[in-house]
Amino acid sequence: MTPSGTPAQYFDEMYARAEDPWSFETRWYERRKHALTVACLPRRRYRSAFEPGCSTGMLTSRLAQRCDRLLAVDIAAAAVTSTRRRLADQAHVQVERMAVPDEWPAADARFDLVVLSELGYYLDDAGLDLLTARTLDSLEPGGTLVAVHWRPAVAEHARGGDDVHRLLADLDGLERTAHHEEADFLLDVFLRVPPAATSVAQAEGLR
Ligand SMILES: C[S@@+](CC[C@H](N)C(=O)[O-])C[C@H]1O[C@@H](n2cnc3c(N)ncnc32)[C@H](O)[C@@H]1O
Repeated sequence: MTPSGTPAQYFDEMYARAEDPWSFETRWYERRKHALTVACLPRRRYRSAFEPGCSTGMLTSRLAQRCDRLLAVDIAAAAVTSTRRRLADQAHVQVERMAVPDEWPAADARFDLVVLSELGYYLDDAGLDLLTARTLDSLEPGGTLVAVHWRPAVAEHARGGDDVHRLLADLDGLERTAHHEEADFLLDVFLRVPPAATSVAQAEGLR
């Protein structure tokens, strides 16, 4: 084990067996879920986003269209190579190898969007605590955290997706503004508070 979760070797072996281990490029399930994820983002544009666990960059490509800057990282070198190749023509996207939460962007880096998509259940208790603490530290006031996780039990996962979302919902400093629930996955949007959370309509002066 790495200090905080499933070791890099586990993912390296998955990527050695298949370039796209979860079939993000071909499964309608994944394409639809990625579309829902970006559709739920409350702001039209983000200044600076962080996406840990980017895999082959399919969600990264969608996020790139909404962000002025995007840092995408993955524990697996093969995933970093794939994402770099996919986003090669997007100069505002940086792709790095990084094992979160033990490794993290520069201490002074501040994001207005952090995306935790299918990542939290790989972390043990200490790892998830550190991930959430670092995410809260890195999020600007009013910034968005979007979390998406598979719900059914998986033997290799340290916890279930529901557990990850329960823990996020209980955190001081986050207010949930959207909750999407299906049999397969949960999708939650949180804002970093204070300041008090505003709805999308409020932000546009509709109410
Ligand atoms: C199931 S994929 C999710 C990909 C993408 N976030 C999405 O939802 O489409 C999980 C990815 O997280 C990466 N990963 C797992 N643990 C990690 C960690 N501690 N730090 C960074 N990346 C990690 C894996 O290598 C894999 O590429």
